[in-house]
Amino acid sequence: MNKHMQTSSIERSTVGKGIAHDSAKKHVAGQAIYIDDMAELPGTLHAALVVSTIAHGIIKSIDAADALAMQGVHLFLTAKDIPGHNDIAPIMSGEPLFADKKIEHLGQPIGVIAADNIELAVKAAHAVKVEYEVLEPVLDVETAHERKEYVLPPQELIQGDVDAALKDAAHVFEGRLEIGGQDHFYLETQIAYTVPGEDDDMLVYSSTQHPTEVQHHVAHVLGNLANSVDVKVRRMGGGFGGKESQATIIASAAALVSHKTRKPVKLRLKRALDMTATGKRHDMVSKWRVGVDANGKILGMYVEYLARAGYSADLTGPVITRAITHTDNAYFVPNARIVGHACKTNTVSNTAFRGFGGPQGVITSEAIIDQIARELNLAPNDVRAINYYAPDNGEVTPYGQQVEQNQLVPVTEALLASADWDRRRTEIDRHNATNPVIRKGLAMMPVKFGISFNLPSLNQAGALVHVYQDGSVHLNHGGTEMGQGLFMKVAQVVAEVFQIDVDRVKITETQTGKVPNTSATAASTGSDLNGMAAFNAASAIKSRMLGVAAKHFQTDETDVTFKDNQVHAKGQSIPFSELAKLSWAHRVSLSEAGYYATPKIHWDAKTLKGRPFFYFTYGAAVAEVAIDTMTGESRCLRADILQDCGESLNPAIDLGQIEGAFVQGMGWLTCEELWWDKAGRLRTIGPSTYKIPGSRDVPPEFNVSLLNNASNIEETIFRSKAVGEPPLMLAISVYLALKDAIGSNKDRNFDLKTPATPENILSSLSGSANR
Ligand code: MTE
Ligand code: MOS
Repeated sequence: MNKHMQTSSIERSTVGKGIAHDSAKKHVAGQAIYIDDMAELPGTLHAALVVSTIAHGIIKSIDAADALAMQGVHLFLTAKDIPGHNDIAPIMSGEPLFADKKIEHLGQPIGVIAADNIELAVKAAHAVKVEYEVLEPVLDVETAHERKEYVLPPQELIQGDVDAALKDAAHVFEGRLEIGGQDHFYLETQIAYTVPGEDDDMLVYSSTQHPTEVQHHVAHVLGNLANSVDVKVRRMGGGFGGKESQATIIASAAALVSHKTRKPVKLRLKRALDMTATGKRHDMVSKWRVGVDANGKILGMYVEYLARAGYSADLTGPVITRAITHTDNAYFVPNARIVGHACKTNTVSNTAFRGFGGPQGVITSEAIIDQIARELNLAPNDVRAINYYAPDNGEVTPYGQQVEQNQLVPVTEALLASADWDRRRTEIDRHNATNPVIRKGLAMMPVKFGISFNLPSLNQAGALVHVYQDGSVHLNHGGTEMGQGLFMKVAQVVAEVFQIDVDRVKITETQTGKVPNTSATAASTGSDLNGMAAFNAASAIKSRMLGVAAKHFQTDETDVTFKDNQVHAKGQSIPFSELAKLSWAHRVSLSEAGYYATPKIHWDAKTLKGRPFFYFTYGAAVAEVAIDTMTGESRCLRADILQDCGESLNPAIDLGQIEGAFVQGMGWLTCEELWWDKAGRLRTIGPSTYKIPGSRDVPPEFNVSLLNNASNIEETIFRSKAVGEPPLMLAISVYLALKDAIGSNKDRNFDLKTPATPENILSSLSGSANR
């Protein structure tokens, strides 16, 4: 399709411009309509989840009599009221919507109660009495690993011969890193509003990154066909991966109540319950043995991940795959054995979070580099440089993909220069020599991130474009908007095809009834996939309109050009709207469904080999920090970032994504600490105990640039590159700078677990002093 139209051959009037997010003003004015802002239909019920108060055990009895006796409480439903299947597993099976007998984590949904308003529903939920037989919970990955309790079999990637490489190595180093988890802390907590229709129809408004999965699970739980469920998503107040699989729990529970009552139902989680009952970033322990030559060049490494899956698989399998396939980060590892264990614990089932395992892989890689530098007393950036994938000589990752369009050296060199590395390195060393209390640290690190879902089948998308007779355009596609600016980027693509102003393109909510069988908006692929599908749809309409225009101007199609909301040929022109009307009059269709599937990718999930990624993005960051050695407190004083976005579709949105991702990554690595007590109760369930970065944590000096002349060598949408997740990992520079500050009094290796809270920094400071 559209062989004659490649995105790169189209003139750029709209694509590449820093146009504001379509909802920017509505967001700040409070006028953007989120699900909880929608006018409620008459008779709407409000639901609340009843969740377990123990981490592990057996349900002996459930008594909802007191709750149901409350004025305004309507009904209480449990597993036995589910007409279809009690299973909402996104990939595997056996992940119940409501616990039937077995309780596997504290906060596990047991049932749903519905009342006249949310406060009453929550009160009634607490009044449901559940008796348990309490069992001992497993709460940490080491114990689960010792007992061989996993939710999935291990994944193992083997390249070359590590044992032989380590035997021949000049040095072998061992290490271990505790990597913290992270709550998504989206501003809008999980929510769904379900409206029953005729027959078995169910309209579902869901705050989800994955409308198709919500559609399938609602149908599955209700025992109906997928075509009875229509899911709509205008926007999310943030998703960050937390609404990729987890939104199905909320939507299915609400739909169940609608199904039984034939009434509209709203289910919104309060923050504390959202944090208790929905999954997070996987905390992991990584362990390694790495062999290097005398110069610190890596000969081979053995890496093992213990990932906290929680009680069930959810998305843990692919999260571990991405950790494994990002353990090389920017570095050529000729011999590798990388193993990931999906440890089963009696905690909430962990899920996608921006980077999707990549961050855990990259921080392990960078901790290894940092260790090599410390042990051999080399400058960390020199160790990086000699281990970088060679520029375009076809070096291959441990999983078998050739590293193409390698931007590591250009990105690093340009960044070190713009960040004034040499001068600042000297200044900081001088500062530390005379300031024992407030110490400073400086670090640079690169990120190479693979773009595409690891599973090839997910890399497809659809779009639906209509041109109306007044020349205005209706745009719909399978991607969802969570604040990342996807809708504007895709609108820019369509405006560019027709060469019309972007405000003539109506951005509309994602809807399973319009574009079916979509993938989650995830893996940073939203604009790559949906942008190309919309491009294909618009281009097909345009080529038909070209035929009409050629007839009108009595010339060849090749003479006709679209420009500035007009259509031109032979020195004459008519408005685009007039051509739309003419097309209708000639009975030429002005509507098209577009489709796109990413080319070139393939993957063997058994051996973890193939070409999982269409291309790589590259970026690098320099961070400067200060620590107070008396209190352990730290600040990031300055950050410099250079990120490869190919030919950016929208540099304003991309800069926002980079800044936001970096600060979110800082939160993960410095202040966001999840803390469970010995009973398995999460104690950090709100902003008072769980500290996300605030505006004052943004580095006071924050220089972010996009790499110039970086057109994607692959035929992506207008030669752009994805941006959503990769810059989160650049915050690992802050972690490395903290290590630099802590270690500035000596050159040997020491541990710093994440998040690098004041407590953990103090403990590393005292540990290092003892050496
Ligand atoms: N930006 C905002 N403002 N809000 C979000 O929830 N999610 C991130 C990233 N940027 C997110 C965000 C995640 S986890 C992903 S995978 C991508 O956006 C998804 O969107 P994209 O594929 O369109 O980049
Ligand atoms: Mo993003 S973690 O792929 O939703």
